[in-house]
Amino acid sequence: MSTQSDALVLFGATGDLAYKEIFPALQALVRKQKLTIPVIGTARGGMTLEEVRQRVRDSVAEHGVEDEAATARLTGLLDYVDGDYTNPDTFDRLRQAIGDAQAPLYYLAIPPSMFGTVIRSLDAAGCAGPDAQVVVEKPFGRDLESARALGDTVHGVFDEEDIYRIDHYLGKESVQNLLYFRFANSFLEPIWNADHVASVQVTMAEDFGVATRGAFYDSVGAIRDVVQNHLLQVVAHVAMERPEDMSGNAVRDAKAELLSRVRPLAPENLVRGQYAGYRKEKGVAPDSNVETFAAMKLEIDSERWRGVPFLIRTGKRMAATITEVVVELKRTPVLQEEKQPCAPNYFRFRLGPKRVAIALGALSKKPGSEMVGENVELLVRDDTRDHMGAYERLIGDAIRGDHTLFAREDTVAHSWRVVEPVLDLPEPVVSYEPGSWGPEAADALADEIGGWLFPRCE
Ligand code: BG6
Repeated sequence: MSTQSDALVLFGATGDLAYKEIFPALQALVRKQKLTIPVIGTARGGMTLEEVRQRVRDSVAEHGVEDEAATARLTGLLDYVDGDYTNPDTFDRLRQAIGDAQAPLYYLAIPPSMFGTVIRSLDAAGCAGPDAQVVVEKPFGRDLESARALGDTVHGVFDEEDIYRIDHYLGKESVQNLLYFRFANSFLEPIWNADHVASVQVTMAEDFGVATRGAFYDSVGAIRDVVQNHLLQVVAHVAMERPEDMSGNAVRDAKAELLSRVRPLAPENLVRGQYAGYRKEKGVAPDSNVETFAAMKLEIDSERWRGVPFLIRTGKRMAATITEVVVELKRTPVLQEEKQPCAPNYFRFRLGPKRVAIALGALSKKPGSEMVGENVELLVRDDTRDHMGAYERLIGDAIRGDHTLFAREDTVAHSWRVVEPVLDLPEPVVSYEPGSWGPEAADALADEIGGWLFPRCE
């Protein structure tokens, strides 16, 4: 059942995520006439409504599209309740601000440690009627056990069909296209398996550090921040079996099935790094052992993927900002004989940041008397057009009551199970130079497949 919301309540309205992503997304929805319901911000920032309106204008000026009329409409829809989330008075005032709305959508853009407090308080203040729904940001929990406990807390107040777990990678056009490209093209299925695929590499590199998020990041680290959610979702899109149909539930079933087959990560298949200077960042412990880089080898226990290494690598302060998947195919006998080794065939999916691309790496004979080849790349798609942003799409979907692009409880649990053995390892992180591709120790993980493929920087 899908419920159309009649008010949006944004917890964490003065926070970083609201500023960078949520307000620009709301403005985009207003521009397209998809957001006309009241928006009630709430935070414990000590701000006034006028100050929050100004924050919305600043946020849109910095991260959104210039459209004064739309921004004015958004600030016109805005109300604000300032207060501590542990104080029942905040929730009494919130209930008054919600007024007659019967189906409020509560968006928890706050640290996961506050989810339980806010959800229980909503219930106690009578704000969680039968048509109320909730959006929660990742990471959902800190490990499998806390995710289960949090799930119980949320389910104590909201039914599963009233919960939207955001993983903004699922709202990305490029991540959806991974799925479409796989299942809409008949030439892929016969080769998309261990007989033909040599390896899969997923790289999510960022050239920036933790910036203003030091305190949050230092309590989380790269594995919880992006591997447990975004990158395992990407792996699921690359590797899942064909869903029964392309409906939201069938796709989510196929993803859950795939993730249930990813083996728990063995510590020897992981390298954790930390960029030099991280411990001096604001909010970071001076002796922090939190990873800002992680490289790992995953194995999938299925007929299709047995023996194929899935290598994942992510880090802050790296050489470039790029998210890319490369599926490398096995070498043909012709290629094995070549003196000058060319790269084998591969599919390359550039997921972001700005450019979205799908390419096929092929071989062609080098002009000349010798029978030797060279690599060419066939570009299937290369797009820099301004698509609908992930947050715009996801918030719009949640307001309309569409669950398709949200993470389900079982996929979240399977993903925690995969990373569980390597959370909070006591072994010291390996230092790496900012602007590099991470610690050299990570190279050994990719030795068996001939090394990491460094993404092409465009
Ligand atoms: C967020 C992480 O979920 O995703 C950030 O918390 C990361 O640390 C961000 O920078 C990356 O998102 P995108 O869409 O820019 O690849």
